[in-house]
Amino acid sequence: MFEEALANYHLKRVDKAQNLLQKCLHDNPKDAPAQFYLERCKRYLDSGVHEGSGEIDANIVWDESLKVGVKEIDEQHEELFKYSNVLMNAIKERRDQNEVEKVVSFLNEYVENHFRDEEEIMREHDYPFLSFQKEQHENFIKYFKKVQSELKEMKESRAYLMFRIRLLVVDWLVNHTYKEDRHFGRFLRDKDKVAPEHII
Ligand SMILES: [Fe+2]
Ligand SMILES: [Fe+2]
Repeated sequence: MFEEALANYHLKRVDKAQNLLQKCLHDNPKDAPAQFYLERCKRYLDSGVHEGSGEIDANIVWDESLKVGVKEIDEQHEELFKYSNVLMNAIKERRDQNEVEKVVSFLNEYVENHFRDEEEIMREHDYPFLSFQKEQHENFIKYFKKVQSELKEMKESRAYLMFRIRLLVVDWLVNHTYKEDRHFGRFLRDKDKVAPEHII
């Protein structure tokens, strides 16, 4: 219930968030996070200032620092970030559910192809952390598919599902690309193993 309240707060549905937070506090009067967010709701209603919404509303920005140094991977990452922003904007602008589902399926397919290609390149270069990469990729796909089917069945509230999709895409994809995938780039540079056709 608290997570749903949080999602509603971030989506600026403050009255719904307040109701849920009050229920949390009714069940557990010592629920400090619920109290904290309830106060944020009140301040938002009084002042119009929405605290803490920056990170969730922000677009994913592609920049040079995210480059791995392998042409195919970097091009696919750039496309992935682009489509992730298309999805974020579809959610932010509260587009029709069919449209959101279409973007989610497209992104899902794109991500799967990207993971397959990336793993293939890592295998070619005997990257020692390939199994860790595969594990992370599989987890992402599993979680993404779960959210995708929940979106179809609408078991959870739409606002909460949207919030989870955004967290998954923003947090996971950006972090994975920045940390794990760039590690592969460093490995290639250190080993001086970049095949000439892959160098940008
Ligand atoms: Fe990647
Ligand atoms: Fe990866």
